[in-house]
Amino acid sequence: MTDALLELRGIDKRFPGVRALKDAQFDVRPGEVHALIGENGAGKSTLIKIVSGVYQPDSGEIMLDGAQVEFGNPRESHSAGIATIYQELGLYPELSVAENIFMGHAPTRKRLGFNTIDWEAMEAEAEALLAELNIHNLDVGAMVGTLNVGNRQRVEIAKALSLDARILIMDEPTAALTESDVEQLFSIVRLLRERGVSIIYISHRLNEVFELADRVTVLRDGEYIGTKNVAETDEAELISMMVGRTIKNLFPKQAAHIGEVVLEARKLNRPPLTRDISFSVRAGEIVGLAGLVGSGRSETAQVIFGVLPAESGEIRLNGQAVRITRPSEAVDYGIGYVPEDRGHQGLIREMTIRENTSMAVLESVSSRSFISRAKERALANGAIRQLSIRATGPDQIANKLSGGNQQKVVVSKWLASSPKLLIMDEPTRGIDVGAKAEIHRLMSRLAAQDGLAILMISSELPEILAMSDRILVMREGRLVGEFTREEATQENIAHAMMSEEARQAAGAAL
Ligand SMILES: Nc1ncnc2c1ncn2[C@@H]1O[C@H](COP(=O)(O)OP(=O)(O)OP(=O)(O)O)[C@@H](O)[C@H]1O
Ligand SMILES: [Mg+2]
Repeated sequence: MTDALLELRGIDKRFPGVRALKDAQFDVRPGEVHALIGENGAGKSTLIKIVSGVYQPDSGEIMLDGAQVEFGNPRESHSAGIATIYQELGLYPELSVAENIFMGHAPTRKRLGFNTIDWEAMEAEAEALLAELNIHNLDVGAMVGTLNVGNRQRVEIAKALSLDARILIMDEPTAALTESDVEQLFSIVRLLRERGVSIIYISHRLNEVFELADRVTVLRDGEYIGTKNVAETDEAELISMMVGRTIKNLFPKQAAHIGEVVLEARKLNRPPLTRDISFSVRAGEIVGLAGLVGSGRSETAQVIFGVLPAESGEIRLNGQAVRITRPSEAVDYGIGYVPEDRGHQGLIREMTIRENTSMAVLESVSSRSFISRAKERALANGAIRQLSIRATGPDQIANKLSGGNQQKVVVSKWLASSPKLLIMDEPTRGIDVGAKAEIHRLMSRLAAQDGLAILMISSELPEILAMSDRILVMREGRLVGEFTREEATQENIAHAMMSEEARQAAGAAL
């Protein structure tokens, strides 16, 4: 009846207090890239965890090659040829690349009558697998723990291939990648598709969907909304399918009165990643900090917030020199910080949304050191409404939320704390398109109305260009460029971000 390799029908999945999937459906054809998109909490990760055997559906059926199957655990899904690329979880850091690829199915040879691992064959096969993927400068003997995120992901893909996976699932694979790693991932995905591997690709970045996918399926509130051929749809249609309405203004930046200098950094040093950093941010101003991953942007933020205190240099707030040696001091001076790694630094995952949102603002919700539950709850409810956090309520434990909804909790916590200076590191990464516009609107309003000074780190140039009054560019630990809103273009910022060698290479390619 259909030409599907894998087909899910009528899938229901409940968690306490939530119906994560309601009569959801999805199908994958051989050799296609099928994108799965939807707002935070729409049920994307839950659906692919059902395919990979992590969760079992409450009802509905899974068909593989036209026959009904059940995956009681990840092993069963694996043996059916389905592999999932997790961000980092799947690998053993203290083992080599080759050992990770062949974990559990290493080539063996007979020695003194016993089967022993054939190390030479294993390394040779690992090299062959990587070469098949056009991956050449990765040492199969290297310990995985020493690799960067991009290389670790390549090891995961090689591992999936060594298991003869026919279906490869990727859940937000580009979230933590550098620009060049993204390019390389895309070429690997295309190569796999040519070989007939089917890929299920989850992303919040619609440009990736258009660049890579053949078809796209949209989920909303756990329900199946529809499937489109990518060639026959556009961004506006997908957004309205995801959010159930059209969003007119994706980057709602309002003009603000730029006031006095709030933060002044003078020759801040913390080698190797921050050298001689001098800049200022004024009241009402949004300053964008651009640069490649690893250029020192996050470290600069951490120097100012006292996570990695400066070894030399000066921080001045509202004209006064201050010494910040730890984050609590930064908070006392009115600095807020939305970290990049929200899972570890931003959120206490065992606590409720209510407790998390009120953490940065304990002063205003406590009277004489008694914390008012009612005020906390009002604050949390406000955040849930404003950023449409999909939760059972303010008392839900943070780690039961979907990835993007956890991030919204962190962002709302700092927006609610009314700081004078707010540092935001990748504030909308992993956040869906509707909530993203909402966070931008809030940033813009707080700057324009309350004179908040904002330093925003982002790897998305459209976000930098649309939201910043001024743009700073970092490269290899130093500030190397500054542009006004009027001067800045995608090209001149990207050019400033690149190293000398990369520029020469790009020049030579022209
Ligand atoms: N283990 C769990 N326990 C309770 N609720 C859960 C659990 N896992 C997911 N949920 C809930 O199920 C719903 C769907 O979550 P899911 O992680 O599938 O969303 P998602 O589409 O992947 O979102 P995101 O884009 O934010 O990653 C959410 O409301 C989430 O809170
Ligand atoms: Mg998810």
